[in-house]
Amino acid sequence: MNEEHVMKSYSLALIPGDGIGEPVIDAAMRVAEAVSARHGFALTPTTFEWSCDYYLRHGRMMPEDGIEQLRPFDAILLGAVGWPQTVPDSVSLHGLLLPIRKAFRQYANIRPHRLLPGVEGPLRATNFDLLCIRENTEGEYSGAGGRLHQGTPQEVAVETSIFTREGVERILRYGFEQARARSGRLASVTKSNAQKYSMVFWDEVTAEIAAEFPDVEVRSYHIDAMAARMVMQPESLDVVVASNLFGDILTDLGAAIQGGLGFAASANINPDRSAPSMFEPVHGSAPDIASLGIANPIAAIWSAAMMLEHLGEMEAAKDIMEALARTTAAGIGVRPGGHRTDEITRAVLAQIG
Ligand code: NAD
Ligand code: IPM
Ligand code: MN
Repeated sequence: MNEEHVMKSYSLALIPGDGIGEPVIDAAMRVAEAVSARHGFALTPTTFEWSCDYYLRHGRMMPEDGIEQLRPFDAILLGAVGWPQTVPDSVSLHGLLLPIRKAFRQYANIRPHRLLPGVEGPLRATNFDLLCIRENTEGEYSGAGGRLHQGTPQEVAVETSIFTREGVERILRYGFEQARARSGRLASVTKSNAQKYSMVFWDEVTAEIAAEFPDVEVRSYHIDAMAARMVMQPESLDVVVASNLFGDILTDLGAAIQGGLGFAASANINPDRSAPSMFEPVHGSAPDIASLGIANPIAAIWSAAMMLEHLGEMEAAKDIMEALARTTAAGIGVRPGGHRTDEITRAVLAQIG
């Protein structure tokens, strides 16, 4: 019998988007391709030029069948969406990023916050390692609401949070599973002292799911106290699970304590794999530095490592993380504007060898 060598190949949809999205995705792909060559698999990227520029030409952020075009891919790698100078954020984000998260049931948004070697965060604490898990499809981002009597003194704006049992159970269960796989400690973020329907429900479901995980120690923290704790005692935390908006805000705080948005990676995971997951840095298009060539690509490169891990290429993902650590340990990419995007990328590639 003939032995067949078929190289594994993963199809990737690349959406660089706006501003620094393009250079950081380019950097992430160069690094991902370098490790793929080494680990015997191939990446076959297809680039989708969906962005605010696309909107100005076509009147929409992606084609009508954009979601269906993305569905067959193994994963999506996204840069950043938004260019408020030309397209209102409420239009651009609701036309591209947010519909992808919802349509593909990417309900777990995973955001790790820890210091890479050599990076000086703003805190005295250096030994923290947080994994934030943000609900990613409903809650405060349900999109339900409306405006009435616009432009009159009687004007009304309503934006309704929607918390479903399915949505809350699945994200909490995901949080408990991650906690079980790490330190066995879970922090559940609430605000049930003020939000007496949604967050009381969240706490009740936390208690219910806790019964399935007797080996996990769960504690609830109000969002305001959690924000303070992430600054004062981040090392007391491990896995943190939060609703969509609470998780959004806490993870920019997480980015800040790990040295800045240039270091914060994320994965929008569809855990049942019924549709592609999407990987993206936490940051946006950074209009203030977009033309300067100084965007830090580390957040995007780290996100690509999370993508390879999700695809099952653990060793390749580990290679990227080790190369990043050696790069920052050598002082490259550690300070905003200290090195250019391509210098940092070349340094990481050199570490990969
Ligand atoms: P931002 O993350 O783009 O920028 C905030 C600050 O962080 C800026 O000073 C920026 O220069 C800096 N920064 C961000 N990433 C950096 C990097 N890799 N290297 C060095 N510095 C970096 O947030 P913003 O200014 O609030 O938003 C700009 C646009 O991006 C808006 O349209 C917003 O809606 C959008 N946005 C998109 C996403 C996304 O696509 N996931 C995330 C956040 C914001
Ligand atoms: C993020 C971003 C998005 C969010 C915006 C751009 C809609 O801030 O991914 O953190 O709020 O989810
Ligand atoms: Mn955010």
